[in-house]
Amino acid sequence: MNHTPVEGFSKMSKEGKIEWLVNEYLDGSENALQTLKQYWNDDVELQRLHDEFSENTLSNFYMPFGFAPNFLIDDELHCLPMAIEESSVVAAASKAAKFWISRGGFKTQVISKTKLGQVHFMFKGDKEKLEHFFIETVLAKLFIDTEAITKNMQARGGGILNLKLVDKTAEMDHYFQIHAEFDTVDSMGANFINSCLEQFAQTLKRELFASDSFTSEEKESLQIVMCILSNYTPECIVRAEVSCPVEDLEEGNVTSAEFVEKFTRAVRIAEIEPYRAATHNKGIMNGVDAVVIATGNDFRAVEACAHAYASRNGKYSSLTHVEVKDGVFRFWLDLPIALGTVGGLTSLHPLVKLALQVLGCPNAEKLMGIVAVGGLAQNFAALRSLVTTGIQQGHMKMHLMNILNQLEATEAERNYFVNFFKDKTVSHHAVIAEFCKIRGVKSVEELKKG
Ligand code: MEV
Repeated sequence: MNHTPVEGFSKMSKEGKIEWLVNEYLDGSENALQTLKQYWNDDVELQRLHDEFSENTLSNFYMPFGFAPNFLIDDELHCLPMAIEESSVVAAASKAAKFWISRGGFKTQVISKTKLGQVHFMFKGDKEKLEHFFIETVLAKLFIDTEAITKNMQARGGGILNLKLVDKTAEMDHYFQIHAEFDTVDSMGANFINSCLEQFAQTLKRELFASDSFTSEEKESLQIVMCILSNYTPECIVRAEVSCPVEDLEEGNVTSAEFVEKFTRAVRIAEIEPYRAATHNKGIMNGVDAVVIATGNDFRAVEACAHAYASRNGKYSSLTHVEVKDGVFRFWLDLPIALGTVGGLTSLHPLVKLALQVLGCPNAEKLMGIVAVGGLAQNFAALRSLVTTGIQQGHMKMHLMNILNQLEATEAERNYFVNFFKDKTVSHHAVIAEFCKIRGVKSVEELKKG
């Protein structure tokens, strides 16, 4: 189908945008129009708030907002808010929480919380002269010139931690960086970091042009390429862990020693085998992202960082590790993660505010720990199923519910189906066949007609 480009879309009214979209891409369907409008909130102010989070907002996109209770984290009980569409993630988290509550719970530790940014620039000239000039002339001015930006952050206990010039010319001709380290306390700090970096670039340019040490060719060669924070924060790390005596890990008819052996092997496979590691880490991110989204943080940044970290030794590997020593099983996750509990959506989105309230209004460090626990719990639950019953048992139960929802099954029918599939394999075909049988029809089409 051919479409015509639209001019000034962002300036159209919401109604105008919807009309254009429906006519251009949805055959003018009244049904499509109603679907978009059906998700508007009756509270006009609340709707305006959501519209303004982003550009060209036409409707609201719902995600399930669930809670996983009974998380004992550093001796405090928590109920984890989780925004996630994948069936079984919240149930798996709750199950893992329940398992560990009687085994000492989860422990967390923020190992470091340095955030990073870089000014990428090109300079064709004397490297040693540049290095000397950076240390003697520029460095102190970078701090002075950013005082207006850093004042509030310093009052909160953060600010710029360290600045250095990095010579990258071995990898790309004439390429240098100002590599900057920051403590952004309880904010994610993206705006703060980027504002500092842009000021660093201006200061560098101004000082180099004012200096007598460089030739005019050298001065002209300076080109700022870009100033941007790095989402790779290997120095912003939290550890979440669980541990218990091996004998406390009996699993149904699997002995504790057998369970530990199987579990440990599964983790080792994810440590050495990238194909498995990607799926293993995806399971961790099921728990991480769900809490990150619920608490108004940037899950794309969190994902980018986690996977970069998982590859830090040149081969993609597991983010979790396991150890069995002196009869004690220890399972942990080292997660690099930059989070905020102030700024951004945290003070704007009513459900984010509620989620943070449920978590006891944590600071950024505490939230790092809680999120990491969500990831570790998820990984524990997935591996526990994978090495014992298999993952499909739990998944298919949720799958069954989704199919029954699509079929608009009644409460009595749902109960019948849960019972019916207790000892049978759930498949789309089998559910439909049984559904048609109990409704006395030959096909789903017949059902729809009726
Ligand atoms: C599914 O979303 C996540 C799992 O595949 C994770 C894993 O295999 O470890 C179950």
